[in-house]
Amino acid sequence: MWEQAIQDAIQKIKSNMSRYPKKFPHITAEKRYEWGESNDWIEGFYTGMIWLSYEYTKEPLFKETALAHLEDYKLRLQEKRHLDHHDIGFLYLPSALAAWIVDEHEEGKQLALKAADHLMLRWREEGQYIQAWGRKGDEKNGGRIIIDCMMNIPLLYWAYNQTGDERYRIVAVAHADKSRRYLMRGDDSSYHTFYFNPSDGTPIGGGTHQGYHDGSTWTRGQAWAIYGFALSYRYTRDAKYLDTAIRAARFFISHLPEDNVAYWDFDVPVEADTPRDSSASAIAACGMLEILEHLENEDGNKGLLTDAVERSMTSLASRYSTLGEEGEEGLIKHGSYYVRGGMGPDDYMIWGDYYYLEALLRLTQRIPGYWYERE
Ligand code: GLY
Repeated sequence: MWEQAIQDAIQKIKSNMSRYPKKFPHITAEKRYEWGESNDWIEGFYTGMIWLSYEYTKEPLFKETALAHLEDYKLRLQEKRHLDHHDIGFLYLPSALAAWIVDEHEEGKQLALKAADHLMLRWREEGQYIQAWGRKGDEKNGGRIIIDCMMNIPLLYWAYNQTGDERYRIVAVAHADKSRRYLMRGDDSSYHTFYFNPSDGTPIGGGTHQGYHDGSTWTRGQAWAIYGFALSYRYTRDAKYLDTAIRAARFFISHLPEDNVAYWDFDVPVEADTPRDSSASAIAACGMLEILEHLENEDGNKGLLTDAVERSMTSLASRYSTLGEEGEEGLIKHGSYYVRGGMGPDDYMIWGDYYYLEALLRLTQRIPGYWYERE
């Protein structure tokens, strides 16, 4: 089924490219994307899907399109257009770094380095963390970190490997340590966000933005933790990060419903119409596949994680995907963006589509996405 799912997905990506040339998908409340300019945190996933399609098919059209996107990412960075946030890794790893990884594209590498410098602007020395949202000194967000950032700091680890400049590594490690200490809880669940006093970094308390309540476990946040800490381990080889990733994965697996695809929050009361977040399950599958790259054969977690990936991906492909549904723009249905905020489309999420395809390609072709350079 995996090969069939990949081919179906790539066909849909190709059809989107021809129907909406030079446009990027945005989330809507309907079962479709809204196609427009690059002005959100999510465009990198679409460019990344095009790179994945190129790596699988080697069809020049995919490479040409992904490289043409670079101009947009370059302008966006020059103009600082909608970049006043920490999601710079999500934007520039699957686009600019991907161009370097797949095509040794020098401009892609230079752009990724510039993006890393932009992310460094969000480092807050007083509190020793990367501020997620808002401007420095922002009353609500000035002292706030969020778990999602674990997927942005690979840009800094990579920049350190490229340049040897210690500042990138110091910031990435400090932020990972702070996230591990304050966003991860004793039972291996996670807060979505944590607040500090911005003037001296005194911890204040955990909370949520997209989860069910402040102390709940937002499923996508838990998935970001799994994959993000696994990537911190890949870059640093510090065993505590791998341990955190495994623990987060065990929590995720043990709280899944019967069909192995997560609801939008692990603490939300489940009723007939409770939304799922298929994107969280796709991200978690990629995170677990990353963890599996680092486990010895005799490690007791290996069987559990392998089985969990198999069950989640089978459920996603057979019950949630648009496999065989012609004309659809998205790959997996029943993703949730921001249910708590009333932005509750329970449908296509471009990051869900990206990680679903990444997981399929990790499973079959050993193509691991664009979060690190390959050895
Ligand atoms: N990083 C934002 C989200 O996961 O919705």
